[in-house]
Amino acid sequence: MTLEMRPFPEDEDDGTAAARRRFTDSGYLVLPGLLPEALVRRLEPEVDRWVDDGLRARSIASSLDPDTHGAPPLLELELPAHGELLAFPPLLTLLDDLLGCPFVFHHMHSDRHGPGSAGKPWHHDYEPNAGADASLVMVHALHYLGGLTTEMGRLVVLPGSHREAAGKTARAHLGTAEIPGEAVIDRLPPGSTVLINSALFHARRPTPGRPGRPRYFVDASYCQTGARWRPVKPYWRHMLARARELDLGGGRWPELFAERHFTEYAATA
Ligand SMILES: [Fe+2]
Repeated sequence: MTLEMRPFPEDEDDGTAAARRRFTDSGYLVLPGLLPEALVRRLEPEVDRWVDDGLRARSIASSLDPDTHGAPPLLELELPAHGELLAFPPLLTLLDDLLGCPFVFHHMHSDRHGPGSAGKPWHHDYEPNAGADASLVMVHALHYLGGLTTEMGRLVVLPGSHREAAGKTARAHLGTAEIPGEAVIDRLPPGSTVLINSALFHARRPTPGRPGRPRYFVDASYCQTGARWRPVKPYWRHMLARARELDLGGGRWPELFAERHFTEYAATA
């Protein structure tokens, strides 16, 4: 299959097979400027609304205390540009090729990190599935709407670490410290995406004392089908139902919002 998308950074003639190899080996792919400017222009005010109107806080409260809060009044994917981003055809076409089998949407988060905001320690985000089948891949698309500059918190990843059998917080004691072999991603044009295997260790490393622009960040995750995955939102059924009602993806990806790929929600300690 030929992907109609912008070339990968290292080699403009690189093909999809090479991208797949690189993703398999290193656990990540950098996709500079994947998102069209017009989509980014619509996304940023939605992120502002999500943060400034307390919708993000409501969403977190609903996740932490569903008995009190129920489902949040609005979901990220109900914001029109966020819904488009979730099912952005070039991204899902790439996923289709990289994963080689149908995949299901897992969750989306949207946030704005202020210039002085704290980092996030080394971690990975892979969720277990009911079959305990670690060969099934989960990916996170990390979207940097305004790009990344050296004045913002930088993304650091540990290439190859997705092949370790390690807990999410196995490197948390290192904070955001430099690790031998890490790759630093701190210069990306607006509308860039970094696609990671969710089991890849990564961190957000702050840049103290550097004034800068806020970092607009949306992430969305997707899982290979073949086992039932653990949902991270207590209102996951509502989330999938709203995505189906809004016809995100236009029916092109039949498994994208199918409930049968999930276990029941269980709060984690
Ligand atoms: Fe993460």
